[in-house]
Amino acid sequence: MEKYYLTTAIDYVNGKPHIGHAYEKILTDIIARHYSLRCDDVFFLTGTDEHGVKIQKTAAAQGITPKELCDINSQAFKDAWKALDVDYTKFIRTTDDYHEAVVQKIFKKLVEQGDIYKHEYEGLYCSGCECFLNPKDLTEDGLCPDHLKKPEVVSEVNYFFRLSKYKDAIIKHIKENPAFIVPAFRANEVLRQLEDIQDISVSRSKSNVSWGVDVLDDPEQVIYVWIDALSNYITAIGYDVDRQSDEFKKYWPVDVHVIGKDILKFHSIYWIGILMALGLPLPKHIFAHGWITIDESKMSKSLGNVISPTSVLESFNLENADAFRYYMATSAPCGRDGNYSDNDFKEKVNAHLANSMGNLLNRTLSMLVKYFDGEIKSEFTVNTDLKKLAVNTIGFVKTRFDNFEIAEAGQEIMALVDAANKYVTDNAPWTLAKEGKMAECGTVLRTVLEIMCMVSSLIYPFCPNIARSMSNQLGYNLSTRLDDIANLDYNILKAGKLIAKEEIKPVFLRLDSEFADKQAKKSEV
Ligand code: ME8
Ligand code: MG
Repeated sequence: MEKYYLTTAIDYVNGKPHIGHAYEKILTDIIARHYSLRCDDVFFLTGTDEHGVKIQKTAAAQGITPKELCDINSQAFKDAWKALDVDYTKFIRTTDDYHEAVVQKIFKKLVEQGDIYKHEYEGLYCSGCECFLNPKDLTEDGLCPDHLKKPEVVSEVNYFFRLSKYKDAIIKHIKENPAFIVPAFRANEVLRQLEDIQDISVSRSKSNVSWGVDVLDDPEQVIYVWIDALSNYITAIGYDVDRQSDEFKKYWPVDVHVIGKDILKFHSIYWIGILMALGLPLPKHIFAHGWITIDESKMSKSLGNVISPTSVLESFNLENADAFRYYMATSAPCGRDGNYSDNDFKEKVNAHLANSMGNLLNRTLSMLVKYFDGEIKSEFTVNTDLKKLAVNTIGFVKTRFDNFEIAEAGQEIMALVDAANKYVTDNAPWTLAKEGKMAECGTVLRTVLEIMCMVSSLIYPFCPNIARSMSNQLGYNLSTRLDDIANLDYNILKAGKLIAKEEIKPVFLRLDSEFADKQAKKSEV
């Protein structure tokens, strides 16, 4: 694998980031970090989508200019990703000059080659979706099914993209590439939508929408959000219609676009048509994740249940985002909807990160100190069965990531942790020590610590801070390649002194835990 290029959707800046946006960025960051353990060159793109009616109207309502609104909210997204350890390579804003200039040239090229044409049009526009809706997709009451708002009747001259010309080629591509749309069950949905696909409006009249990229040579029209927004994936890495940067040549085609299920149509139909018209290779995968609900209901401003990711970190007094990342990423199987609830969050991370994983490392290291003064002796061996399971788990986890089954990857890791816990219980190293079977006792401890090195690599994409704390205590280098440790004959831990008593510390404190209370009491004393 030479490079891995992945992108998120770019978020509209008419509001602040919420945990639905956070879910997507966390998933993408986890995928990026996983591939960074398999490939030298990972490029992770995210950003903000800053044009359109919705942003124009929100700014007007707040009495500020659209650009001022964009600056404020784009920064809020950046701040949130920082707090969540979402470590992107590049952040694009669709108001960036270089992006706007290339979007204008893309539009012009498509006009010149006859793929975009001008047409008088009347349609139903939903500003929530920023697109025209097909009357047959509305609810019985004539509302947009996603936003439950009445679309506006818009009658204007617009530019249209000749999507119908590419319909057959898109259908063929989807049918011939079963891994193109992930999860696969969504491909049928897209194929159904393709049956009655028509040419799409790609501009708006300036009299109705002024906040957008001007059409070159036609000052009465602005480029309507989707051509502008989707192009970010290529402009960010230096695409231009007449000149392609080295970066573009290296990273395109993208390995995966990570997006929400609501915008799959735009990515797997519109964007593919545009790329075909530009003569560019197609994305390898489009991964549509599900929707995050709060306490099982849809998040919405009117329900007043919108949760910001940083408020979760604050309310649980978390010093980093690891627990939240783990919880969100494992909240739903691939492509399905997930749910956030405070209680469930607390219970899950306490059970998995503190009880199962954290405690295992903590008590194993403590026994190594108690019985062997923190030293791994050369006569301690590594149990082959458990090591084999760990090596296999690395393979399973890689396959899960290749299929974008992130929650399932998390389950594979926890299954290995559970097996290691069971191995300790079954072999009771404390009894072995009592009976003076020191070599056997040491073998149990060395085996578990060896497995914990592997676990720290596997859990790193989900919980980078916890993984660092684990690997530090194990004297293990976290940048080790997964393929290097997925080797039955290779022992990661060498014989010698590993750790001193005062260096052992819990990698994750239970939320609302007795331990946290005790810590607090200790520091009062
Ligand atoms: O659609 N659960 O922007 P957006 C999970 N600008 N994901 C959610 C979510 C939720 N509750 N709410 C939103 C746009 N998302 C366009 C994208 S891409 C070239 C342009 C996801 O701010 C949503 O599915 O409405 C999308 O992938 C992303 O957040 C941005 O949504
Ligand atoms: Mg949306």
